[in-house]
Amino acid sequence: MDVIVANDRAELVEARRVLGVGAGATLALVPTMGALHEGHRSLMRLARERADHVAVSIFVNPLQFGPGEDFSRYPRTFDADLEICAAEGAGVVFAPSAEDMYLPDRQVGVSAGEMGTIAEGAFRPGHFDGMLTVVLKLFNLVRPDVAVFGRKDAQQLALIRRMVTDLDLPIDIVGAPTVREPDGLALSSRNRYLSAQDRVAALALSRALFAGAERSTPAEIRRAARAVLDAEPAVDVDYLILADPATFAEVGDGHTGEAILAVAARVGTTRLIDNVVLTLG
Ligand code: PAF
Repeated sequence: MDVIVANDRAELVEARRVLGVGAGATLALVPTMGALHEGHRSLMRLARERADHVAVSIFVNPLQFGPGEDFSRYPRTFDADLEICAAEGAGVVFAPSAEDMYLPDRQVGVSAGEMGTIAEGAFRPGHFDGMLTVVLKLFNLVRPDVAVFGRKDAQQLALIRRMVTDLDLPIDIVGAPTVREPDGLALSSRNRYLSAQDRVAALALSRALFAGAERSTPAEIRRAARAVLDAEPAVDVDYLILADPATFAEVGDGHTGEAILAVAARVGTTRLIDNVVLTLG
């Protein structure tokens, strides 16, 4: 069956009916902002394993971009995205307009709480509130059984899990491994902004994380990762943290168990994030 394109909520209701969702068939949602790449394909493949049908949402959410961020230049590649969704066996692509998603006098949104103000949230005020608001709306509109998100956006994934717990949402959240280029660069829709020179410099992020992952104590991990970043002058680091993967609070020196080593940095005009999960002790 061809992929159904639903451009508004009425068409989405009809697509659910055609697919038999709500009448026995299960649905997995892959929320995206488009500019799809191999990482998104891997999310769709995982989604297909988890449910009878896959819905992919494509919506560049204005609420999660701050002033001066890349909302207007964010790559919009709908035709190529649709081909990818069809090739990966998606049943429906939900691509609403901003007008369909948000009333002009919208008042109420989701708060990411204190966890939304640390790490990535400290550099992008309001970002996680806007992200959670659209994800909750997508959950309410698409009504999936399962939703799949990439682990590259680790704090986003942790906050979505918190929202599902705190607001009792009946949806299974699945985290999918980060997909990397052979040289280590984590796939991102924003990689297409990188010049050839920037791309070489950007490799310092994954190199730093891998260097940290070879050490065993928090102090050594932070030092090893920082040394790699400091050696690359074209990389302007926003933060490098070793944090609890569930709360994103920095871990102390005696920490044992899982920890996430996460970095955000600007390379030229492009802001990139990456992380690895480590087990300490
Ligand atoms: O990760 C993304 O692409 C976005 O933050 C998401 C989850 C689709 C919400 O707009």
